[in-house]
Amino acid sequence: MADLDDSLDARISFGCPVGVQAILRAAWRHDVAALKPLLDAPGKASCRDPETGETPLHAAIRSMGPKAEDDDGNSEAEKTAMKTIENLLFGGAIWNDVDANNETPGCVAWRLNQKGLYDEMVRAGARAEMLFAILDGYEELESDGEDEDDEDEEMAEAEAEAEETNGHEAEAEAEAEAEAEETTAEAPAEPTDAAETPYLESHLTLNDGKLVDAAGNGVMMDWETDIMRRSVEAMLGPAGSTPAKEKRVLNIGFGLGIIDSMIAARQPLRHHIIEAHPEVLARIDSASKNPEAAGDDHAAEFGEEWEASGETENNEGAYKVHRGRWQDICPKLLADGELYDAIYFDTFGEDYSELRRFFTDYIPGLLDDSGVFGFFNGLGADRRVCYDVYTRVVEMHLSEAGLDVAWQDVEVPLAKDGLDTAGAGAWEGILRPYWTLDTYRLPVCTFMG
Ligand SMILES: C[S@@+](CC[C@H](N)C(=O)[O-])C[C@H]1O[C@@H](n2cnc3c(N)ncnc32)[C@H](O)[C@@H]1O
Repeated sequence: MADLDDSLDARISFGCPVGVQAILRAAWRHDVAALKPLLDAPGKASCRDPETGETPLHAAIRSMGPKAEDDDGNSEAEKTAMKTIENLLFGGAIWNDVDANNETPGCVAWRLNQKGLYDEMVRAGARAEMLFAILDGYEELESDGEDEDDEDEEMAEAEAEAEETNGHEAEAEAEAEAEAEETTAEAPAEPTDAAETPYLESHLTLNDGKLVDAAGNGVMMDWETDIMRRSVEAMLGPAGSTPAKEKRVLNIGFGLGIIDSMIAARQPLRHHIIEAHPEVLARIDSASKNPEAAGDDHAAEFGEEWEASGETENNEGAYKVHRGRWQDICPKLLADGELYDAIYFDTFGEDYSELRRFFTDYIPGLLDDSGVFGFFNGLGADRRVCYDVYTRVVEMHLSEAGLDVAWQDVEVPLAKDGLDTAGAGAWEGILRPYWTLDTYRLPVCTFMG
């Protein structure tokens, strides 16, 4: 990243409205006494310089300057910065607003090595996203005689108030929603015609180890192979250990078939795959019928022959590709009494609420008491602070669903894998890198207690 000018003069532009300037300068000085009365109306804590995009949160963090690597003290200046940030958040400041340098306040804190302030922004983000999740899932209660219009109005007001308290005003909410979408799908779509096509109807191309949708989003890429290998080891034990002959495994999302090929190599007792995209399913059919033409496409391994190979008298339907959306297939698996020792979830084009729905509604019924649940943890991985926020959010939601999670750190060698430059190396032909971090946090989830 080019050197950024973090001076006050560079951050507050000439054309910045006087009222906004006053708030930004008070935040910059950590002058809580001057700041508080200025935050007297909704939206003021999230005001921004029209040119630089500086918000009061950016200003309060940026004015701290860089902290030395070996300085782990908690200075007076840091304490007053923290107080300022608390007041701004209480006044409705938005944790993930980006400035003209494409930095959120948390990104600035990380770049300046202000670890304490960074952690505060992660906590703020997690609080905001938890509240957002609650509001999103809010269901209106039956009216008991009260005028429905009044009730609607009251509810809209209450929601707006709650959103404002947490900084999710209309514009921010759109951004937060976009951010939330970024967190789940491995890449959000640009507003093009192709991008408006729902993912499951979108034309896919497979080239050079990359499965790409019509808008150019990377659905699955072979640089994730090591993550898939580690996920299999977390669920079925290390490679080279005894074959998983007793294990029943469910994988949701076939993609390039990387993880399914690794699971199949362990010769599990049962191996079920759920895949919804017609072109992925057609690839499995055609590749398995003509494996020579399929080259190294794992799809060739999962045709009718594979399905038949697991079949025994006592183990009907042992190996099977279930064709359809997990939302439709899982209720059937539950009704059939299927139970798994390992479940992996890695879909595309769905937002975080779907992952949450899966582990809340289906894991309790489909996972054996001593089973392991894993998922591709790409939530917010194009921005460190979002990744850290979503790690907390998903941990809290897993806990609500009765699951403990242990995180394993997996190194992602960005430069070696050609992942360090957008539009080049592994990202060539991909609309936008969905991964920018040097450490993947691999979730290993088990039932509590
Ligand atoms: C990221 S890829 C999975 C990659 C896989 N883990 C591998 O190792 O190659 C996501 C897959 O999920 C599928 N998918 C998306 N939404 C789905 C849904 N609702 N139900 C089932 N499959 C879905 C996509 O078509 C795609 O094949």
